[in-house]
Amino acid sequence: MRSGLALGIETSCDETAAAVIQDGTKIRSNIVLSQIDIHRKYGGVVPEIASRKHIEAVFPVINEALERAEVTLNDIEVIAVTYGPGLVGSLLVGIAAAKALAYALDKPLVGVNHIEGHIYANFLNRAELIPPFVCLTVSGGHTDLLLIPELGHYEILGRTRDDAAGEAFDKIARVLGLPYPGGPQIERLAAAGNPNAIAFPRGLNEAGNFDFSFSGLKTAALNYLNHANQKGEEVNLPDFAASFQWAIIDVLTTKLLAAAEEYQVKQILLSGGVAANSTFRNHVKEKAAQAGLEVWYPPAHLCTDNAAMIGSAGYFRYLAGHRSGWDLNALPNLKLGDD
Ligand code: KG4
Ligand code: ZN
Repeated sequence: MRSGLALGIETSCDETAAAVIQDGTKIRSNIVLSQIDIHRKYGGVVPEIASRKHIEAVFPVINEALERAEVTLNDIEVIAVTYGPGLVGSLLVGIAAAKALAYALDKPLVGVNHIEGHIYANFLNRAELIPPFVCLTVSGGHTDLLLIPELGHYEILGRTRDDAAGEAFDKIARVLGLPYPGGPQIERLAAAGNPNAIAFPRGLNEAGNFDFSFSGLKTAALNYLNHANQKGEEVNLPDFAASFQWAIIDVLTTKLLAAAEEYQVKQILLSGGVAANSTFRNHVKEKAAQAGLEVWYPPAHLCTDNAAMIGSAGYFRYLAGHRSGWDLNALPNLKLGDD
């Protein structure tokens, strides 16, 4: 049945999400049930709790997505579900739900790489974007700098060698006693601070190196706090947060623009939770304008985990002929280009 409707399902971490997408780009509904309040008291996501909550929520969330879109399961043409990377127990809940629906309704099933989903968030509710792109995917688990010569093809130019950018935000926020997830908290604190107050190190900053490293920055930030503590000095938290955030944004932006120049690509895509950071978005936009490049990024609520992006990526995979079998399994360490 050709309705152009995809049901997207996303349960890779701590959001239970479902969405109905028309023709790969138009959001008919997008439901995200966050478990953040539950995990916050533990300072991060507890995998066993996450999968239990997904089991409770997955079908109610799917039903709500269908209702909001004013469609029934029969109207759906393809069912798309995240199968990695992510927490294995969480991924399995979404996959089992998607398989059950696809089997019972005799609909095609398409497994989607979560990172590819983040990239496709750029295509939602937007006129067609035409490659090539240089893309930076920055989330809690990933910092990938990619060349996208054509849709569905990814050349990895660089990755983080240690922490992901979002993970660095989360870890330092935790040390400061700020709630999870730390990125938005640091951004809020940084708004009143001076980004040049503390000279934090930039990892792997030699020209032509597109890999990232945030462990040196993390250590420097921890040392700064410990020294102040030992000396009984009060830390100016807004300055600390602004300088820490700036160290991350500076490295991300410098490498992204250097990659666009080296590969002679005129369009930049941002994706992933850290791309919700407005200081980062504005800085990339400013630098790109100076270099004559175009920048695209999704609205903030589509940068963080959602199922609209999975419905979009899944629909385009489906159009390209991809189908998953009943043996579709969770792949916690799935990489872009593995599938
Ligand atoms: O893409 P996402 O929702 O989940 C993963 O796939 O990991 O990204 C979550 C990450 C967290 O580390 C969170 O702290 C970070 O994105 N994040 C931010 C902001 N909003 C979310 N980091 C910096 N500034 C923000 N405004
Ligand atoms: Zn994500």
